[in-house]
Amino acid sequence: MNDDITLVLGATGNTGRRVAARLRLRETPVRTASRSSPTPFDWFHPAGWDRVLREVTTAYVVPPSVPGPVHDFVMRAEAAGMRRLVLLSGHGADDWGDSAFGRHMRSAEDAVRGSTLEWTILRPSNFDQNFDGPPFRVPLAAGELALPAGAVPEPFIDLEDVADVAATVLSEPGRHAGRVYELTGPHALTWAEAVELISRASGLPIAYRRVSPAEYTATLVQEGWSEGEAQELTEMFVLLERGVTAWTTNDVATVLGRAPRTFEDFVLRATAAKAWQR
Ligand SMILES: NC(=O)c1ccc[n+]([C@@H]2O[C@H](COP(=O)([O-])OP(=O)(O)OC[C@H]3O[C@@H](n4cnc5c(N)ncnc54)[C@H](OP(=O)(O)O)[C@@H]3O)[C@@H](O)[C@H]2O)c1
Repeated sequence: MNDDITLVLGATGNTGRRVAARLRLRETPVRTASRSSPTPFDWFHPAGWDRVLREVTTAYVVPPSVPGPVHDFVMRAEAAGMRRLVLLSGHGADDWGDSAFGRHMRSAEDAVRGSTLEWTILRPSNFDQNFDGPPFRVPLAAGELALPAGAVPEPFIDLEDVADVAATVLSEPGRHAGRVYELTGPHALTWAEAVELISRASGLPIAYRRVSPAEYTATLVQEGWSEGEAQELTEMFVLLERGVTAWTTNDVATVLGRAPRTFEDFVLRATAAKAWQR
């Protein structure tokens, strides 16, 4: 019996698939799980959780999109013998107030903090890769990104750094117990500056346009987003405009012993991969 399996939830997603790859390279026994995995895991079907939790001592948890289920999951995990958990949350979560944005992340944080597990919370800022994947790649490739964001900068972080931090924390029992890491890139850029860098490096004419929050919500709904999802993403920009996520930290270096990757480095890699070509 292998008594030291690391469970990676959200294993097909942005962070989970990168975290799992790093753990496999380290030869850590890994169980990857999501609704579409060979070992299926669904936040809304708790009957299947015990099978997924069998022999798991450590977990990387991407929370579900609604508040609540992580409380039950943590109780089941404790009963099944889990000892450590690393949770993905979001940058500046202490300052989100009563915003509709990120309630699922704050609920998951509460569940984890209230547990007997050795926990670590990772709070990354907006990912660089939002620009070469959903939700911004398609509008950028069409020549214009329109967002309800002005002069307040955002310290975009590279997903590879988020995954490097998560894999390191998962691999170092004890060292990160009870720590909350606010993971940011090395410097903050406005959304217009980010688009300008993409346009310059790719050689493609791409414009940035500031729109009102109401206009943005309406556009997302027109594009097929649900009203609730559209409101939540808009609320995120309202928070950003208040500056609650604009600050940078040294937390990537604290964990990894090196500086985080720059946005410019991401732009060069994505340009080489022809991310924004039509
Ligand atoms: N995007 C950003 O810039 C950013 C920044 C900071 C924090 N965050 C936070 O990061 C989290 C998302 O993480 P991510 O980007 O790594 O994931 P992601 O790419 O959004 O993928 C979601 C993952 O969860 C799985 N999943 C979806 N519904 C599920 C369900 N009902 N039960 C079990 N698994 C389910 C999906 O796989 P299946 O479809 O196979 O189930 C997939 O593996 C969110 O909480 C978000 O708020 C995002």
